[in-house]
Amino acid sequence: MTAEPVLRPSDPGAHVDPPPILSVKDLQVAYGPTQVIFDVSLDVPEGGLCCLMGRNGVGKSTLLQTIVGLLPAKAGTISLGWKEITKRAPYDRVKAGIAYVPQGRDAFATLTVFENLRVVAEASPKCEVDVVEAALQRFPRLRKILDRPAGFLSGGEAQQLAIARALVTRPRLLLLDEPTEGIQPSIILEIEDAIADLKKEGLSILLVEQYVDFAMRLAETYAVMDVGRIVASGPTEDFDRESMQQLMSV
Ligand SMILES: Nc1ncnc2c1ncn2[C@@H]1O[C@H](COP(=O)(O)OP(=O)(O)OP(=O)(O)O)[C@@H](O)[C@H]1O
Ligand SMILES: [Mg+2]
Repeated sequence: MTAEPVLRPSDPGAHVDPPPILSVKDLQVAYGPTQVIFDVSLDVPEGGLCCLMGRNGVGKSTLLQTIVGLLPAKAGTISLGWKEITKRAPYDRVKAGIAYVPQGRDAFATLTVFENLRVVAEASPKCEVDVVEAALQRFPRLRKILDRPAGFLSGGEAQQLAIARALVTRPRLLLLDEPTEGIQPSIILEIEDAIADLKKEGLSILLVEQYVDFAMRLAETYAVMDVGRIVASGPTEDFDRESMQQLMSV
C-alpha cells in the first residue's frame, strides 16, 4: 500500500485553510521574576471578533501589550497570519497590521483632536490624505471638537479618539482594551455601532471587555482568563452566563 501524498501549500491544487489572523501559542509573560501569563493559547479568526474577559488583575492588558510587542514573551509564539512576530519590535507589528487601543486611551494631551489624528497619519507608511476624514466620518462627534486639546475630552470622546487614531494606520487586527470602561450608555452604543461596522468591513478584533452584554452582542468567540490562564473559551452561543459570573466576580 502506498502512503497518501502530502500536499504542501505551494503544490498546485492544494487546498489550505488560511491561518487565523492572530494565533497565540503557549505564551508565558513575566514582569521581572513574577510570571503573570501562563501557557496562554488563543486564536482570532480572520474577520472574527473574539472577546477576552476576566476579573481585575488576571493579565488581560498584559496579554494585549505582549501581542503588540510592548512586553517581551518569555516563551511561546505570536503569529499574525502566516508570519511569526514574537520577536518583532512594536513599530514592525504595527506595520504588519496590528493596531492597539490601550486601556485608559492614551492620547497626546496637549495636541488637539485633529493633531492627534494627523500625527498618526503622517507616521503611518500607508498614509493617505483621507484616512483622517474616514475616521471623522466614523466618529462624527469628534468633528465638533477638532480644535480641542485631547487632555480636555470626556471619557467617551477620548475613547472614540483612541479608536479613530488606531484606525488611521489601516490595521488588519485591532486590539481594544476595555472600550466601555467608565463611559455613559449612549456613547457605549455609538462605540458598539462603530465596532459592528468595522467587523462588517472585515476587520479582525480582539476585544478585552468586562461588560458582558456588550461583548456578547459583538463577539463570535470568547475566552475567559483567571490568574494568567485561559480557563474557558469557545463560540459565544455556548457561553454559559452563570458559570462565567462566578469566574468574573471579585
Ligand atoms: N508594570 C508592571 N509591573 C509589575 N506587575 C505588573 C505590571 N503591570 C501589571 N502588573 C501585574 O500583572 C498582573 C496582571 O495585570 P493586568 O493589568 O494585565 O491585568 P488586567 O486583567 O488587565 O486587569 P484590569 O481588569 O484591572 O485591567 C496584575 O497582578 C498586575 O498587578
Ligand atoms: Mg487591564
